[in-house]
Amino acid sequence: MAEELTISGGSKEEKYRELLPQVKAVVEGETDGIANMANVASMLHETFGFLWTGFYRVKDGELVLGPYQGPLACTRIKKGKGVCGTAWERGETVVVPDVDAFPGHIACSSLSRSEIVVPVWQDGEVVAVLDIDSKDLGTFDEVDKQYLEEIVKLF
Ligand code: SME
Repeated sequence: MAEELTISGGSKEEKYRELLPQVKAVVEGETDGIANMANVASMLHETFGFLWTGFYRVKDGELVLGPYQGPLACTRIKKGKGVCGTAWERGETVVVPDVDAFPGHIACSSLSRSEIVVPVWQDGEVVAVLDIDSKDLGTFDEVDKQYLEEIVKLF
């Protein structure tokens, strides 16, 4: 396994392209989902300097906080609530360019301005979501959606 993350690319797309094989190398062969979520959260957070990067796992009919990097976060989110619960309910990635314009957004940090939530699938069910928050407006677009969906397929 690669012991150190090496990202030299300038553009967002270049960074994701360099990151993908490194995520693959780290998670392949490791069957523990929590360990993999912890490393993926770290790698994304370090590469892009997001405000908050982490996972919520589906447990007992709710989303429960999993491995993350960044400020303290809320522990449980119900289906259909907030951006995370919406992505889970819809079973699709939700990109929010301005969190203040998203009805029901759950503000874990007052610094968060934009957000993306990507469902993690296993055996035809959403088992977790990857949630990323940015301090800036409009951080996430189709490029993030495409690469983050590829990343969560790796484990
Ligand atoms: N903003 C999220 C809640 C989780 S925190 O951002 C870490 C939401 O609306 O679901």
